[in-house]
Amino acid sequence: MKILKHLFDSNLAWAASIKKEDPEFFTRLSKQQDPEYLWIGCSDSRVPANQITNLQPGEVFVHRNIANVVVHTDLNCLSVIQFAVEVLKVKHIIICGHYGCGGIKAALENQEHGLIDNWLRHVRDVIRFNAEQFDGLEHDKKLDLLCELNVKEQVTNVCNTTIVQNAWKQGKELSVHGWIYSIENGILKDLETCVTSRDA
Ligand code: CO
Repeated sequence: MKILKHLFDSNLAWAASIKKEDPEFFTRLSKQQDPEYLWIGCSDSRVPANQITNLQPGEVFVHRNIANVVVHTDLNCLSVIQFAVEVLKVKHIIICGHYGCGGIKAALENQEHGLIDNWLRHVRDVIRFNAEQFDGLEHDKKLDLLCELNVKEQVTNVCNTTIVQNAWKQGKELSVHGWIYSIENGILKDLETCVTSRDA
């Protein structure tokens, strides 16, 4: 049996360092979570929501999947959005993609990877919806563009869910943001696609 002892050791050290700084941290957090943000991002190990925004445990509710895709029939993602909006009452939903995304690259290059090709079909649809924008671009530029357009498409998908539509109908304050992260320099960029109501 392998028990990954080093991870338990680092967990103990982490918990002790938090308690040293703030003795009530875990007691306070154990009573309730009250995050202001829902983060929908890529599973890529280099894009961890809390670290890159410097948010503490309890401050961001997170859903991650390959290529940060929001599919209208994905009960997993929809359940996360519903819980975040209706129970936790988050004020912001952030769709965050990243440059150099392996899922986006696989979709662009149409390589075969098995089961995941069906998931990435949603990203290939983004190419089809925006085909003219890709004409004449070099491969790297196409990849960057698809990473950005995929975020914008997923912002639209989030806005079109019954959950977000109903929140806006009820006059709730809720913004949907599209961001992109650069693994090369650690910087987040706002794609300026923020939607705050059904009229936007
Ligand atoms: Co990725």
